[in-house]
Amino acid sequence: MRRKLMKYGYFDDSAREYVISTPETPLPWINYLGSNGFFGLISNTAGGYCFYRDAKLRRITRYRYNNVPVDEGGRMFYINDAGTVWSPAFRPARTPLDSYECRHGMGYTTFESTKNGIRAKLTCFVPKSDACEIERLVIKNESNAKKEFTVFSALEWCLWNAVDDAQNYQRNLSIGELEVVGGTIYHKTEYRERRNHYAFYNVNVPVDGFDTDRDCFLGAGRAWNDPAAVAAGKATDSLASGWYPIASHMIKVTLAPGEEKSLIFQLGYIEVPREEKWESKGVINKKPAKELMSRYATDAQVDAAFAELAKYWEELLSKYHLESGNEKVDRMVNIWHQYQCMVTFNMSRSASYWETGTGRGMGFRDSCQDLLGFMHLIPERARERIIDIASIQFENGSTYHQYQPLTKRGNADIGGGFNDDPLWLVACTSAYLRETGDATILDHPTPFNNVEGSEKPLMEHLRRSVNFTINNKGPHGLPLIGRADWNDCLNLNCFSEEPGESFQTFGPSEGPVAESVFIAGMFVKYGLEYADICEHYGSKDEAARVREEVAKVKAACEDAGWDGEWFVRAYDAYGHKVGSNECEEGKIFIEPQGFCTMAGIGQEKGYGRKALDSVKKYLVNDYGVEILAPCYTTYHVELGEISSYPPGYKENGAIFTHNNPWVSIAATKIGDGEMAFDIYRRSCPAFLEDVSEIHRTEPYVYSQMIAGRAAVHYGEAKNSFLTGTAAWAFVDISQAILGITPTLDGLSVNPCVPAELSNYSVTRLYRGVKYNIKVKKEAGKSGLFVEGAAVSGNVIPLPTGKSEVNAEYYI
Ligand code: GLC
Ligand code: GLC
Repeated sequence: MRRKLMKYGYFDDSAREYVISTPETPLPWINYLGSNGFFGLISNTAGGYCFYRDAKLRRITRYRYNNVPVDEGGRMFYINDAGTVWSPAFRPARTPLDSYECRHGMGYTTFESTKNGIRAKLTCFVPKSDACEIERLVIKNESNAKKEFTVFSALEWCLWNAVDDAQNYQRNLSIGELEVVGGTIYHKTEYRERRNHYAFYNVNVPVDGFDTDRDCFLGAGRAWNDPAAVAAGKATDSLASGWYPIASHMIKVTLAPGEEKSLIFQLGYIEVPREEKWESKGVINKKPAKELMSRYATDAQVDAAFAELAKYWEELLSKYHLESGNEKVDRMVNIWHQYQCMVTFNMSRSASYWETGTGRGMGFRDSCQDLLGFMHLIPERARERIIDIASIQFENGSTYHQYQPLTKRGNADIGGGFNDDPLWLVACTSAYLRETGDATILDHPTPFNNVEGSEKPLMEHLRRSVNFTINNKGPHGLPLIGRADWNDCLNLNCFSEEPGESFQTFGPSEGPVAESVFIAGMFVKYGLEYADICEHYGSKDEAARVREEVAKVKAACEDAGWDGEWFVRAYDAYGHKVGSNECEEGKIFIEPQGFCTMAGIGQEKGYGRKALDSVKKYLVNDYGVEILAPCYTTYHVELGEISSYPPGYKENGAIFTHNNPWVSIAATKIGDGEMAFDIYRRSCPAFLEDVSEIHRTEPYVYSQMIAGRAAVHYGEAKNSFLTGTAAWAFVDISQAILGITPTLDGLSVNPCVPAELSNYSVTRLYRGVKYNIKVKKEAGKSGLFVEGAAVSGNVIPLPTGKSEVNAEYYI
């Protein structure tokens, strides 16, 4: 295969930024703005969209998927300098620039470009504590002559519900409403009826014109790259009524040589109490909007807000800090893994450039796993999230598969019946307890299916999760798979023959025969963690009961779940093996090799070693570990969606990066630090930067998949940003490989490292105490030392009355 090495940018670790040096990346390379209510997605040409809490139900700006030119829309700025029209972020004008640079940082993105003696710097971010996006455009005249030019901003409003906005034109094209007051354009569609919220787009200087009607701004038959108003250097002062409401400001600027001007644009979201909606008949109450505008009206205010954001990230990222001497590992651990964990915590799989924000909400299993990597960052929000997730569980322990972020209600359209789901609740609660020691969460009254009056302590939810597996086992004593397990595409009870039927919801979600070895692995791992929780904070009898159940599943798995050289994947609805040497295709799957080995199944019999050797032999490629081999070449009705993908893509044989860390963690479980690190490194974004030309997605974050060897485009990644890989990769490198792991009793140090990582230090904030841990090799020394004194075992005893602990570990 052709292997052209080329980079589109570079890491600037001291600034915690990825610097993109060309607007023409293979795909839009994006970033996320916002960390709480107001969110924006922003590409390296300032494309993207904004929403408040929920990308489907509260979409603020419009975005068109699958469109050409790619990534049109978003934050659009134009400078008309004596007839040359250009955009500081390259798009939408697409006029070649004299220089261009985009920096994606922690919660902000900047652009700096020059054209014909004008330098423009655009800074976009969402302030820490307000529901708005700030876009500051600083323009400087670097020429020797006076410059007179015109600046235009533009964005397109979404009519709130992004699904409806894209399809219900017969209604939508009549409902758009706005108000314009000076430099502020208020978007108030549907405010006249049931919406108690509006948005505004403002600039902090007097304007020389505006447009709010898309057709007037663009002109007949024209597109965003060349609006008629911009070309004419004159806004039309249009007031939209229906059709396509937009917001565009026009500002004339005159700059002496060397002079610069700052323009602060603000896109804000406002909720108004129902009784205070109106200022006068038909005129919206602008008081809260004006207050919000007054907080970002000056450069000093914007600087302060930007500094506050930087401080926030500085503090967050100081909670786990590594110095290993390996630049790429340090960069991923200290910056990008944790950053991506924050994004997946916020978004689950709902809104990216590949997840439209109109389909999926917060996934039960996805959100539970996202928490694993996030727990140390903001434990209070993790706690709230766990309760939200547990609240969509049903009385019998099963769960809705997703909930809508705005309403926090289970999403009935997507249904349930994925039998792995309940156990993930144990996984994240256990991680929360190990991180914080806050057992009060177990007493938190938590409803079932959000039904008032049904509240039971969270501990009871965990019990029902575990019981769900115990009560739903198949002929081999292995857990029944239901609609699917972690692998959404292993639909063993679906039997769909009609095109278009959703594998996720079609057919019965249950079946009395099809079993999952993967869920067996989960049950052993998380059943034991649940037993530990019971032992520590609850009933010893319950702990003993569950340990017995775990032993049964473990035995079943060592028997019916073992294929001789690796773990079987499942049994289908006919009781035939899936993922066995007996099969023609799909002989070996990654998931049970990782999970069952992590769970210690067959440990005494050497199953883990054998399974991982088989992984190496059949599944490892240049960029990671493939999900299965050989790929399915035809559709199998008894297997479902997995066999619907062409070989090498997605669940049919891609590197589905999410489960690569499981293999790496499994390798540490059997003490193989070299293999663990090798697997970690292969799919790790920073290590793939040199092959960006092949990989194509952002080199600072994981993508959901990288096409496998059987694919036409081997090595090409897809679906960047929203993947459980973020959390698992961080757990893998920080806890399993580097070995700094929270336990119920304290922080444990138990590295399993390759030779190249045998001298490093970690600072870790844990339960309010700062731990300085040094791991090294020294002849004649081994094990853990705390404040210079040897300690038996791996756990640093919880200190009392100290704010800092120093420990060394000798390998
Ligand atoms: C997607 C889903 C996740 C699932 C995975 C494998 O990433 O969000 O829940 O486990 O695919 O099918
Ligand atoms: C498809 C995808 C899978 C994803 C699921 C979510 O099955 O292949 O990755 O998890 O859709 O609905």
